[in-house]
Amino acid sequence: MKRLQLGIALSCCWMWIASFSLDAEENNAQKNISHATTTLAASCAACHGPQGNSLGGTPTLAALNKEYFIQRMQGFKNGAISSTVMHHHAKGLKDEEITALASYFATQQRHTPTVAPHQPFEGAQ
Ligand code: HEC
Repeated sequence: MKRLQLGIALSCCWMWIASFSLDAEENNAQKNISHATTTLAASCAACHGPQGNSLGGTPTLAALNKEYFIQRMQGFKNGAISSTVMHHHAKGLKDEEITALASYFATQQRHTPTVAPHQPFEGAQ
């Protein structure tokens, strides 16, 4: 019985996530975000959740302040900020790609309550 309840709870969770994924795609088209950037951002979803809405364990990127995002990514890239995995990801990105990703994540709607207390946001909810 417990397992069934868990199964139902999980499928509701995924339906909820799928519904905002569709909204987000429409949103990106309106905001002129390139396909190259959404493809790049998709590689972050494995850890940071759909459109940067972390399901826990990693920081939420959705609605993150653009300057803060760039500062963190450049810090990972040049080694000024120590990290477990992000230095690998940041080193593979060009400055233009980091800026494009910063704009992408800043304009994503935030759906998850997972917030690192130091993160400044664009104010989207
Ligand atoms: C393998 C999992 C993984 C992937 C893939 C990944 N990240 Fe991360 N990210 C992390 C973890 C873990 C942290 C916390 C810092 C650390 O320990 O590396 C983090 C931290 C960050 C932060 C800093 C947030 C803050 O408030 O300090 C940013 C920005 C970020 N990631 C952006 C990205 C972007 C953009 C991508 C895709 C290009 C990406 N990440 C892909 C795991 C991942």
